[in-house]
Amino acid sequence: MNRRIEWQRDDYSRVPYVVYHDEGIFEQEREKIFAGRTWSYLALEAELPEPGDFKTSFMGDIPILVSRDRDGAVHAFVNRCAHRGALVRREARGNAKNHTCIYHRWCFALDGQLVGVPFRNGVAGRDGLPADFKLADHGLQRLRVSSLNGVIFGTLSAEAESLEDYLGPEVCEHIARIYHKPVRLLGYQRQRMTGNWKLYVENSRDNYHASLLHAFLTAFGMGRATQKGGQAMDARHRHTWTFDYANSDSDEAAKAAYASATPDAFKLKLRDPSFLKMRPERNDGLRGLIMNVFPCTIFVHSGNAIAIRQVRPKSAGEHELVFTLVGYADDDEDMTERRLLAANMSGPAGYVAMEDGEAVEIVSAATRTQLDATSLIEMGGKGPLPREFGRGTDLSLRGFWSNYAQFMGIEPAGGVR
Ligand SMILES: [Fe+2]
Repeated sequence: MNRRIEWQRDDYSRVPYVVYHDEGIFEQEREKIFAGRTWSYLALEAELPEPGDFKTSFMGDIPILVSRDRDGAVHAFVNRCAHRGALVRREARGNAKNHTCIYHRWCFALDGQLVGVPFRNGVAGRDGLPADFKLADHGLQRLRVSSLNGVIFGTLSAEAESLEDYLGPEVCEHIARIYHKPVRLLGYQRQRMTGNWKLYVENSRDNYHASLLHAFLTAFGMGRATQKGGQAMDARHRHTWTFDYANSDSDEAAKAAYASATPDAFKLKLRDPSFLKMRPERNDGLRGLIMNVFPCTIFVHSGNAIAIRQVRPKSAGEHELVFTLVGYADDDEDMTERRLLAANMSGPAGYVAMEDGEAVEIVSAATRTQLDATSLIEMGGKGPLPREFGRGTDLSLRGFWSNYAQFMGIEPAGGVR
């Protein structure tokens, strides 16, 4: 690591800006987080339903290939040829009989085994591979794969705990609640941001900003602090989820609460408000649940929109966000239309994700020149972290940093978890 991270407070209420900008720290993250003892979301089984289907994905910035073999088993590998290290698959998705690298046509079976090497025995009696070369020793580098309700996760670590233990019972329950029946892929959205991946992860954990930055949410009752709802973390503060209940406040109460902060939000009007209407589809009264799974995945159920957001870091200073939009396999046309409208509203060309991208970029722009300066995250209090709290705090950010420091091996003495 080029720079040491000095936590000024052992409760992580001060975060030095160097963590958003240093390439050496990013390399450490690759080793200790992305390729370390974490599990990363890779794909949905619904994206590769048939034998031979594949999808390219990422774990941090490590390219991954997810592949369903002829017997229906799902495998995941580092997407890198054993020969010269080229990407074996460059497509986003597809169906194939095998995975052949275009560079020298080394051919891997759907289960990752190396099965063919051109000119292996030489040409016209010359050259070729040594006699002791064994195809079986040079397959694609394999990940451990585990699937939960059709949601596929992987890890490169042999020591990582089981997926269920890594996620904890509450996260497993929320995944099971959203993915309780077969889903259908509706499409993808992508958003590129000039800023560190952790700035977006913090943004997605941070419910304090939601109704202040996003005037649309406040004006139309789609996530304001006056609504019934809250935020919680698992016992290790590794993952966090924010939830809110539909129609649980009044416009008058909201206008009073936001009168000094964002009075203009209530001037917004829609010519056609019909698309805000949520079609009830479950009996728990929830309007939305946004769940952030460490390190890089956000599960979203917001109104009728269902999505998974995967953060794909590119370097210390840039990342891409990929939204996978789904509906249930038995949805009718009206429901599919509502899910797409809701997803577009909050997506990168809509009223929410676009603003989050701007928030990431303005923090990145203003922090890069003073790497030892720190943020101040004390909304909700200092000291030990609670498991459950209200919607206007920085507590889930401090939870993120405590967990981050643990994985990175940089906990301060007496660090608060
Ligand atoms: Fe936001």
